[in-house]
Amino acid sequence: MERLYFFPVFFLLLQILNNQTFTQNLVYRIGSPDEAIQVNFLLTKDGRPNYLINSNGKIIIDTSFFSFEFKDNKPFGKNLEVVNSANSSFDETWETVWGEQRLIRNHYNELKIELQENGDLERKCFVVFRVFNDGVGFRFEFPDQKNLKDVIITDENTQFNFTGDHTCWWTPGDWDIYEHLYNTTRFTKIDALSKRDHPNLAQTYIPENAVNTPITMKTDNGIYISILEANLTNYSDMTLKIDKENLLFQSELVGNDSGIKVKTKTPFVTPWRLILIGDEAKDLVESRTILNLNEPNKLEDVSWIKPTKYMGIWWEMHLGISSWDMESEKHGATTENAKRYIDFASKNEIKSLLVEGWNTGWERWIGFEDREGVFDFATPYADYDLDEVIRYAKEKGVNIIMHHETSSAVRTYEKQMDTAFALCKSLGIHAIKTGYVGKIIPKGEYHHGQYMINHYRNVMEKAALYEIMVDVHEPIIPTGLRRTYPNLMSAEGLRGQEFNAWSTDGGNPPEHLTIVPFTRMLGGPIDYTPGIFDIKFDKYKDKNQVNTTLAHQLALYVVIYSPVQMAADLPENYEGHPAFQFIRDVGVDWDTSIVINGEVGEYITIARKERDTNKWFLGSITDENKRTTDIKLDFFDEGKQYRATIYSDDENSHWDENPTSYKIENLTVDNTTSLTLQLAPGGGTAISFILISDEE
Ligand code: NOJ
Ligand code: CA
Repeated sequence: MERLYFFPVFFLLLQILNNQTFTQNLVYRIGSPDEAIQVNFLLTKDGRPNYLINSNGKIIIDTSFFSFEFKDNKPFGKNLEVVNSANSSFDETWETVWGEQRLIRNHYNELKIELQENGDLERKCFVVFRVFNDGVGFRFEFPDQKNLKDVIITDENTQFNFTGDHTCWWTPGDWDIYEHLYNTTRFTKIDALSKRDHPNLAQTYIPENAVNTPITMKTDNGIYISILEANLTNYSDMTLKIDKENLLFQSELVGNDSGIKVKTKTPFVTPWRLILIGDEAKDLVESRTILNLNEPNKLEDVSWIKPTKYMGIWWEMHLGISSWDMESEKHGATTENAKRYIDFASKNEIKSLLVEGWNTGWERWIGFEDREGVFDFATPYADYDLDEVIRYAKEKGVNIIMHHETSSAVRTYEKQMDTAFALCKSLGIHAIKTGYVGKIIPKGEYHHGQYMINHYRNVMEKAALYEIMVDVHEPIIPTGLRRTYPNLMSAEGLRGQEFNAWSTDGGNPPEHLTIVPFTRMLGGPIDYTPGIFDIKFDKYKDKNQVNTTLAHQLALYVVIYSPVQMAADLPENYEGHPAFQFIRDVGVDWDTSIVINGEVGEYITIARKERDTNKWFLGSITDENKRTTDIKLDFFDEGKQYRATIYSDDENSHWDENPTSYKIENLTVDNTTSLTLQLAPGGGTAISFILISDEE
């Protein structure tokens, strides 16, 4: 880091860097370990802090200011001076408990700047930049201090100033849900307000023309940028408000109806604001920086944490074949039905079963105002013999995943959590799926506000004490906390498969999952629930369908990362289907992941090597366009031969006209082999590679 003072030559230099620098009088600079990315930290003459980011000599983020507004305290963000600064470097490789890869390198240069206000208040804040080879993280740290004790943040105004009208893949900045389709527009054409009042969302609130993170962009020079958050702790989620005139995003924190965004005390830190930068779209997907910006694992014993494939008494409810409640007289979670699923799972190497609708309260969940005290997380319905199901599952080697739909009656859940988790523990259950359908009770709070962020955290920490893994639906966006709490397995937080069963807007279009890996998946694992084979399900519904081919559904097990991966269809739809072999075989925990190619909203191909075996799996998917793509298998070790089983679309496959036709071929391959994949419209290819020497 260099500290440079105001003098004429330097003045000129700055002028080239940034047209606003005439007013700047101090700059600190820090580069990534490979020097490609440079961050400049500047102060205007009137003491307003700002930063600027270059990558390979091109400005990625132009002069961007930040400031805070508080209740009962003056705004913070001008008349500041730098009283201290420190730089450091870090380089360490750590091992994940589970994940996309076993070993992760955490390598960055850090610049920490201490800012202090001139005048009587003398309030202080540290700004910390960590510059990695694939992006920049920064956060604000407010130390304990005399004139800032109890803090109510009414606004954080952090800017991300762009140099052009980039192409953006965005969802609206909804305070209550992430389950919107992605939109592809130029920055200046983002119109979040047009996404209000979606008929299929049990709760939605879009107060501004803002977007949710992760938001991914492409510049006209072909550079990819994504903005996200890491380590969201005791704060609220950040949406990004559009300033079309200045081509910038400004943070708009999720608040509550009292106008409070964050209530805290010094000392506190904000989440990291993370900007990923890639020359290719696939660089974003290979980044592990979000994990590096989180704290190391805090759980000592992790022996009970196990990635798994699972089935569920689930899709049948979404199709309307059965129901969660008993009153309807088509209750799905019966002892008998659970045993039927257990039998199938056990025969097919699927180690877990989720049972939704097992507990009382479903008569009053969705569409009811008064949901306090309704769900009971310890009492099964009369036709579900919990002990017998557990006994039978154990006998068959299947683990039950407990379901806790809270209907967003958060206090009701919090009251029962200990009892509910103790019940799980007594039954030997190590996994739950939680859900938060509906408006939050207490009223005036939102799913992505501080109140809920603390609730989700509380559930995760408490679950860990009871040795329980968590898969959260209607969650807060993952921000890499799985590193610190590896019992936080997966989350929804996007438009999942369920929308294909009942949405009134035609389901998820074929391009949906070619956008998701470059956007939502940058946050972390996704419980998308792939594997629907009965694509049209005409027997149950005439209007809805899945808008992909069957081979595309298989490829999702590799493309969409989750350590808990569902085989979502009904047992009878898998029965007798040769393609089901891929779901039986595919791994859920990885030693290595390689993104082979991809363009946002068009296609993506990922190969992953299973942890502790020699098996590789590959998935490739396309949008509504058919595609031919050549893949080199040069990532295999030299001299090793694999039996490739290729599950692909055939000449007639098409997501709408002919979604279920596919073919299976076998080939012997090694690291010199190239494969040409032919993907049908809305199609995909899934491949398993078994080391031939392992077969003998
Ligand atoms: C919404 C969840 O996303 C879905 O998976 C679940 O079946 C229902 N809520 C009921 O909890
Ligand atoms: Ca959902």
